[in-house]
Amino acid sequence: MNHSVSSLEKKHFPVMLDEVIQICNPSQKNQLVIDCTFGGGGYTKALLKFPNIKVLALDRDKSVIKRAERLKSESPNQFKFYNEKFSNLDKIVKVEKKPDVIIFDLGISTLQLQDFSRGFSFKSKDKIDMQMGLSDVSAEEVINTLDEKNLKLVIKILGEEREAGRITKNIIKARQIKKIDTVAQLVKIIESSKKKNYNKKINVCTKTFQALRIFVNKEISELIEGLIKATQYIKFGGKIIIVSFHSIEDKIIKYYFTNYSSNKSNPSRYMPSQNNEKNSFFKKYKNDFLVPSEKEIIKNSASRSAKLRHATRTEKIFNYPEEFKEKFKKYLDIENAKI
Ligand SMILES: C[S@@+](CC[C@H](N)C(=O)[O-])C[C@H]1O[C@@H](n2cnc3c(N)ncnc32)[C@H](O)[C@@H]1O
Repeated sequence: MNHSVSSLEKKHFPVMLDEVIQICNPSQKNQLVIDCTFGGGGYTKALLKFPNIKVLALDRDKSVIKRAERLKSESPNQFKFYNEKFSNLDKIVKVEKKPDVIIFDLGISTLQLQDFSRGFSFKSKDKIDMQMGLSDVSAEEVINTLDEKNLKLVIKILGEEREAGRITKNIIKARQIKKIDTVAQLVKIIESSKKKNYNKKINVCTKTFQALRIFVNKEISELIEGLIKATQYIKFGGKIIIVSFHSIEDKIIKYYFTNYSSNKSNPSRYMPSQNNEKNSFFKKYKNDFLVPSEKEIIKNSASRSAKLRHATRTEKIFNYPEEFKEKFKKYLDIENAKI
């Protein structure tokens, strides 16, 4: 049974809210903050309590529009919402002034996960959809039509699933007999394919579901493009804050902030050293990150894998970091596989 949206909203806890708000420093006058992942609106609502702040929020999911409209009616001069992907951040910033802070809180929200009709949860009995919004394909199309080689790569690389080979073979076998169109069918296939659960703390389906969700929503391409555009459009001295939940995302963010900061500004060893200063978009960044407090993890176990990283923009003129995309090409190529 699907829960009602309002009962779910009560169970929605924004992750590392206090830490995010503190880094935003919202009591400073006339700040513009972009919340790239509005979701349950937790960060935005907390920021709007400060009278001098303006918030522009984005979300690719149409289901948040009503919530955003409610906030708009409460704070008409302080808030605007765009149903847009954050890879298109430039469309929004161009019409507004440059932001002081840009926030990303990656992945799906509890509201999306617990709306079983969306098929994000392996507890769902519905169709396998997994589209966050403004996506081009559904997970159902992926598992029923993507060729074996690419499907295995998706599950192995994007899901970091060791038994991707067997899971893929069994998906291919099953779909030759009958279209796989419910979450329950997919769960059965994964369960029967797994010999070992290497991590007892997580469900055997978690990694395959993560892989499909990332692929359907092109989450790695979104993250890379979002980080680049945020760097290009944020004010000098402005901050980029990003909360991530799995190791692929964190690897990318850590690499980006570290290699494009003033402590290490030669992102490629093949780059001549006189270019060292060229790409130091961020102030000194030495792999610093925050994690949720014990108290938060007890209150909201979904926060346990969160990592918060933030970096401050220097005054270096932006030039497109091609090498960053090249570095993570393996993921981008997998996400771009044709259905
Ligand atoms: C973890 S939730 C954010 C929760 C939010 N910080 C809060 O306090 O309620 C992530 C949200 O970001 C949205 N999202 C994910 N990727 C996106 C993208 N590339 N562009 C725009 N929105 C995205 C999802 O639809 C989801 O609603």
